[in-house]
Amino acid sequence: MDDDHFSFSKIQDSFSIKSVKKSPLVLRMIVLVFAMVCGVYICSTWLKKIGTQTAAGFLSVKSVDRPCPEPAVEPWEIPYLHYPKPKTFSRAECACNPVRYFAILTMQRSGSGWFETLLNNHTNISSNGEIFSVKNRRSNVSTIFQTLDQIYNLDWLSSASKNECIAAVGLKWMLNQGLMQHHEQIANYFKMHSISAIFLFRRNLLRRLISVLANSYDRDNKLLNGTHKSHVHSSREAEILASYKPSINTTLLIKDLKQVQNTTTIALESFKNTRHIVLYYEDIVKNRTKLIDLLEFLKVPYQELKSCQVKIHKGSLSSQINNWDDVQKTLNGTEYHGFLHDYPK
Ligand SMILES: *[C@@H]1O[C@H](CO)[C@@H](O)[C@H](O)[C@H]1NC(C)=O
Ligand SMILES: *[C@@H]1O[C@H](CO)[C@@H](O)[C@H](O)[C@H]1NC(C)=O
Ligand SMILES: *[C@@H]1O[C@H](CO)[C@@H](O)[C@H](O)[C@H]1NC(C)=O
Ligand SMILES: *[C@@H]1O[C@H](CO)[C@@H](O)[C@H](O)[C@H]1NC(C)=O
Ligand SMILES: *[C@@H]1O[C@H](CO)[C@@H](O)[C@H](O)[C@H]1NC(C)=O
Ligand SMILES: *[C@@H]1O[C@H](CO)[C@@H](O)[C@H](O)[C@H]1NC(C)=O
Ligand SMILES: *[C@@H]1O[C@H](CO)[C@@H](O)[C@H](O)[C@H]1NC(C)=O
Ligand SMILES: *[C@@H]1O[C@H](CO)[C@@H](O)[C@H](O)[C@H]1NC(C)=O
Repeated sequence: MDDDHFSFSKIQDSFSIKSVKKSPLVLRMIVLVFAMVCGVYICSTWLKKIGTQTAAGFLSVKSVDRPCPEPAVEPWEIPYLHYPKPKTFSRAECACNPVRYFAILTMQRSGSGWFETLLNNHTNISSNGEIFSVKNRRSNVSTIFQTLDQIYNLDWLSSASKNECIAAVGLKWMLNQGLMQHHEQIANYFKMHSISAIFLFRRNLLRRLISVLANSYDRDNKLLNGTHKSHVHSSREAEILASYKPSINTTLLIKDLKQVQNTTTIALESFKNTRHIVLYYEDIVKNRTKLIDLLEFLKVPYQELKSCQVKIHKGSLSSQINNWDDVQKTLNGTEYHGFLHDYPK
């Protein structure tokens, strides 16, 4: 750039009115040279821009002219700091606050709805919900990446979108929503854009199964005045939903539990090279301060987190399953025995 400016001023020097008057040919030459220099300059800056865009994807454009001071972090963290430039709004005074990218990887009925409301209660965290529950967003890897690009560039508008001062942005992603199907490419994307994974699982898969069956029953029967609800905000609503006691098909029970375990194992294996944390719903319910580990993982300032959601199924399992005796017999003596008696409270 400095070279260009230098040659510009040389041309201007020689462009004196006297010489122009003397010879129109000189004038023509000068205009020609001027046009050429301009052309080369415009062309080269344009090529430079295109080059960086195609080489690194638009998420990395941040590095082109970053005026932000280097934050005081450990060297390994630096790739995890992002400075997105949203198209839809200006980050204003927080343009230099680094943003971390995360994805909550989980399964249906594992407490992730509740977990996400806790995260979103943080002033600086924005978790945009179950984005890939919409089928056409996950129809192929390109639509998945386009959607992720938009989320991580802070251009995704949802009820969880916060102001310009967010420090961590992400989404909730069910394993069966294209994630495992395209796990290789997605793990690469996570690596390329330094996205951290938050695995959220449930320890007691039998309780999860009850929640799955009850939720699916409510989808058809709409116990709350004709409205299907997966999450509730009052203990009265929770009682009504919990009044339905599913029967569990014991022929399939062990196979189903194995299947869920298998999916979990494969997910952990597929993303083992992604920076990640593994959390269990039960642990957070028992000890809310477990969330400190999460806030430390995301490197956001500590805050107490609150959710207005109320747990639907509480207490002993025997009161929640219609065919409790059968279920007990089926699991007795198997590796899943522990699921039957897990409430020490
Ligand atoms: C967090 O929850 C508390 C209590 O419900 C509420 O007053 C506060 O506004 C919430 N903060 C955010 C950022 O949602
Ligand atoms: C991906 O899906 C979108 C929408 O469903 C479609 O328009 C696009 O052509 C597909 N791309 C590829 C590479 O298959
Ligand atoms: C969190 O948000 C507050 C208020 O919006 C802002 O002042 C603060 O700088 C943010 N913190 C981080 C770590 O980005
Ligand atoms: C159902 O509707 C009735 C009458 O509108 C209301 O009193 C009751 O609280 C509602 N119940 C629930 C669970 O929303
Ligand atoms: C349990 O599932 C098996 C296999 O799908 C089926 O044959 C059987 O009828 C089911 N039992 C009940 C009680 O629904
Ligand atoms: C998961 O299930 C598949 C097919 O049913 C099997 O090939 C694989 O070994 C299992 N993996 C684990 C980790 O259990
Ligand atoms: C709760 O979790 C925190 C953070 O992991 C831990 O330091 C603390 O000892 C736990 N408290 C109990 C009672 O388990
Ligand atoms: C579980 O199995 C043991 C023997 O293997 C038996 O003594 C016990 O009664 C069984 N419990 C139930 C609830 O079926």
